Amino acid sequence: MKLLLRKCISPKGEIKMGGDKSITHRGLIIGAIAQGKTVVHGYSRCADCMATLEIFKQLGISIKESGPTISIEGKGLDGFVEPDDVLDCKNSGTTMRLLAGVLSGQNFFSVLTGDSSLRQRPMNRIIKPLDQMGAEIRSRCGGFAPLGIKGCKLKSIDYKLPVASAQVKSAILLAGLYADEETIVEEPKLTRDHTERMFNLFGAKVEKKDKKIILKEKNKLNAQQLIIPGDISSAAYFIALACLAPDSELYLKDIGVNPTRTGILDVLKMMGADISVVNTRTVSNEPIAGLMIKYSKLRTREISGQLIPRLIDEMPILAVAATQAQGITVVKDAAELRVKETDRIRAIVVGLRNMGAKIEEKKDGFVVEGPTRLYGAQCSSFGDHRIAMALTIAGFIADGQTIIDGAECISISFPEFITLAKTVCGEANVTIQD
Ligand code: S3P
Repeated sequence: MKLLLRKCISPKGEIKMGGDKSITHRGLIIGAIAQGKTVVHGYSRCADCMATLEIFKQLGISIKESGPTISIEGKGLDGFVEPDDVLDCKNSGTTMRLLAGVLSGQNFFSVLTGDSSLRQRPMNRIIKPLDQMGAEIRSRCGGFAPLGIKGCKLKSIDYKLPVASAQVKSAILLAGLYADEETIVEEPKLTRDHTERMFNLFGAKVEKKDKKIILKEKNKLNAQQLIIPGDISSAAYFIALACLAPDSELYLKDIGVNPTRTGILDVLKMMGADISVVNTRTVSNEPIAGLMIKYSKLRTREISGQLIPRLIDEMPILAVAATQAQGITVVKDAAELRVKETDRIRAIVVGLRNMGAKIEEKKDGFVVEGPTRLYGAQCSSFGDHRIAMALTIAGFIADGQTIIDGAECISISFPEFITLAKTVCGEANVTIQD
């Protein structure tokens, strides 16, 4: 599928994002291992979350969708049946890594696989700690999926993460539920803490001491009513659009503003963006707020260190914003971008250069000189949803027509994106070509 885009003039209005993808994954997983019926309101219907949902059905869990809510009949930590086929995580790293943690504690054999992108992503980062906990995991050479998991009785560990990764941290914490003693994970940089928050909501005790996350022994999870906030990583595309398109004014309702995810707001504000966070409250143990964004002139700043995990998924759209900021934007310490759904450093550099940006690839990031006028061009999504959406926003501020090839991947995280883009920018500026 191709997306054909034209300049978006003064985007205005109030829009609502789909449910947060990371929190929906955790709602499905924790709901399935809790005891009783968990009802999830406002869940994400993205392809990644649907992959998690289908796998739980294969594991014998009854899940019913009804409008914006979903109910999961949780059977406790050991209530699954052995799947009689491989479990397909499709494009979803979160599905594969978090489920590896749960499956390591089961008394059966299972195989996790995924699409060609996921089968090239590093899995040794979860295999190593889960192996130390006693699981038997086999992979292709080099630590690539498919993964064969022979679950067993697990031992707890005290593990220092070599990379800052919420997926690895969560895999260990989920496996820790199956161990008899305290599980400790130390992270080098703060990463999203949705698993810890949801464990506490469902009754499993998790504490934080400096960089250590401690899961207490003897945990039992009890079903809950869960409300999922709007996804800030999806909101980021419209936040950036409003910052960059003159005379804009957008209001985004009920967005998750967990501080481990709001790096994008902090950086854009430091760059001079006009963003107000209003009506902040706590829902299902997660902070949620409304965001008002208006056009403003941006200046650059360095983006590195502790900030990176707080905006890792927003890096492609931040590169687009940097092309319109005054000065030189330097992004460092972001080598993790090279092992996402595609090599996101390479992909965004190729895409934006195509459109006339002055952007240079670095080993662990990129350097952008701005402001530069962007020109419509034909760009590839590289099969990566975040690259497709970032380049779509670039297309909305470019002169002439932009074409994004392979735009169908957008539904991996944000199936409502194209409809919302049409609402905000006008039907005439967004055309789908099959
Ligand atoms: C996620 C964690 C991040 C992020 C991904 C979702 C999660 O990955 O990039 O989109 O839900 O835990 P890493 O943990 O690999 O950094």
